[in-house]
Amino acid sequence: MGIHLQLIRKKIARKDCIEAKDIEQHLGVINEEVDRLNRIVVDFLFAVKPMDTVLEDGDVNHVIEELLQFVHPELDQAGVTIDSQLSPLLPLLRIDARYIKQALLNLIKNAVAAMPGGGTLRIESSRSGDEVLVRISDTGTGIPDEIMDKIFEPYFTTKAFGTGLGLTIVFKIVKEHFGDISVTSRVDEGTTVTLALPVPQKEKILIDYKGDAT
Ligand SMILES: Nc1ncnc2c1ncn2[C@@H]1O[C@H](COP(=O)(O)OP(=O)(O)O)[C@@H](O)[C@H]1O
Ligand SMILES: [Mg+2]
Repeated sequence: MGIHLQLIRKKIARKDCIEAKDIEQHLGVINEEVDRLNRIVVDFLFAVKPMDTVLEDGDVNHVIEELLQFVHPELDQAGVTIDSQLSPLLPLLRIDARYIKQALLNLIKNAVAAMPGGGTLRIESSRSGDEVLVRISDTGTGIPDEIMDKIFEPYFTTKAFGTGLGLTIVFKIVKEHFGDISVTSRVDEGTTVTLALPVPQKEKILIDYKGDAT
């Protein structure tokens, strides 16, 4: 940014030859850089600030549906088809809907970025024992083995305009919910990220009780 501002200054000083198109080009670069810094700062602040997580009874399917509605137009434009398979039989979980939404949004953004020519984003929810699983799969570029253990590291990115904080934030949010996250991927085929969120004790008892009664 400094260099481009300096160049504009120089051109203004040589009053005779200011070309609007020229200045416009420098401003374009500065604008892009401001956007990039803004993204870094916003992600950074989120990543370092202590989370004020408030866990309440919540329907994770509802959170997913709201989020899909929100991202639908952007995915459409990117040529990405949504395939959502939500289990209707899920128990309520102890969640902070704002944060779960943020985590899923980060995962969806990564999935879309991995499918530059379009593809399918599948989002599934299911129950597996004492956990509810939320699975996000894409048909994108995949993650090479040699970087797999780095993707959760802060600032690790393979993108020209990435911050490398998206998955760091997702990890933090999942841990605040006493959950787990796992990733499987095949290069040129796609990636699946699975969030496992614990089913609260009282929901477990309810199921056990129902099980006994029948
Ligand atoms: N769904 C995905 N498909 C392919 N690569 C991915 C996917 N999700 C994450 N990655 C890889 O992990 C890196 C880190 O992701 P993230 O922490 O969200 O940061 P950023 O998106 O800013 O790069 C990405 O740069 C990319 O290389
Ligand atoms: Mg990201």
